[in-house]
Amino acid sequence: MKLGIVGKGGVGKTTISSLVARHYRTLGRRVLAIDTDSNPNLAMSLGLDEQTADSAPVIPRNLVTGGGADWTPPLLLETFGLETPEGVTLLHAMRIDQAGAGCTCSSHGAVRSILGSAIDELADVTLVDMEAGLEHLSRAGGTLAYADVLLVIMEPTRKSILTASRTVSLARELGIPRVAGVGNKAKLPADQAFYEEVAAEFGVPLAGIVPFHPDVGTADRRGTPLTAEEAGPVRAAVAAVLAWVEGAHDERAGLEAERARIDRRIAELEAQAGG
Ligand SMILES: Nc1ncnc2c1ncn2[C@@H]1O[C@H](COP(=O)(O)OP(=O)(O)OP(=O)(O)O)[C@@H](O)[C@H]1O
Ligand SMILES: [Mg+2]
Repeated sequence: MKLGIVGKGGVGKTTISSLVARHYRTLGRRVLAIDTDSNPNLAMSLGLDEQTADSAPVIPRNLVTGGGADWTPPLLLETFGLETPEGVTLLHAMRIDQAGAGCTCSSHGAVRSILGSAIDELADVTLVDMEAGLEHLSRAGGTLAYADVLLVIMEPTRKSILTASRTVSLARELGIPRVAGVGNKAKLPADQAFYEEVAAEFGVPLAGIVPFHPDVGTADRRGTPLTAEEAGPVRAAVAAVLAWVEGAHDERAGLEAERARIDRRIAELEAQAGG
């Protein structure tokens, strides 16, 4: 599964990306996380110290992988993959000097190429923690064109949900099969009702609502990941979002099997009619 995590600045993309990655690790899945932010924040949320994160190798711009290209997925991971304490493999796609120079297009092209390659032979879950903004969806080719699932993280404000609804439209145009919003930092129960009402108004399907929890800020200030004892409701809500994502997959697999059965039956009937 290839999963993109997007949203406006500061909504909680990195927090949720790290919890998604760690959740799948606890289920024993092979997880590749790609950080497209020029500040390597995801590394810290996955348990790497600042120095390791800062000195991590960055994938080359204009990298092309798969289909006879120089960079095969195994070579790519071997060269640039960073192992985190819980066994998530991390790739850094952007460097601060590139971001500063305003030329991140070619790095986005590299991420697109990785998602389009046979990366799923090496990773059960490939997730991309996207830098803030919508360019990666509207930009020609779309960085996340090969994603199976897009989670649009939101804050409990109308503006944030409106932005999410534009993102959902762009993602659908790009052909991403599963696109949904996640309402983060919800002060319950009021924000739950707010998310449900406004997401329905703007046509944003909701994969789940993640509560606000002070432990998240505490872990950020500490510069280390949330421990197993911290922010239980946040971790439970992220697990529920992923159950929604997986359920959607099961549903699609079921529909595809049903369509194949109907196609076979039509072929049989046509053969009978012809004979
Ligand atoms: N569920 C939550 N409860 C409380 N605080 C949260 C929650 N989710 C995120 N935060 C806080 O919101 C801030 C932004 O979170 P995070 O860095 O994950 O966002 P981001 O979308 O990745 O930001 P950026 O756009 O800068 O990459 C952090 O201070 C984090 O502690
Ligand atoms: Mg971030």
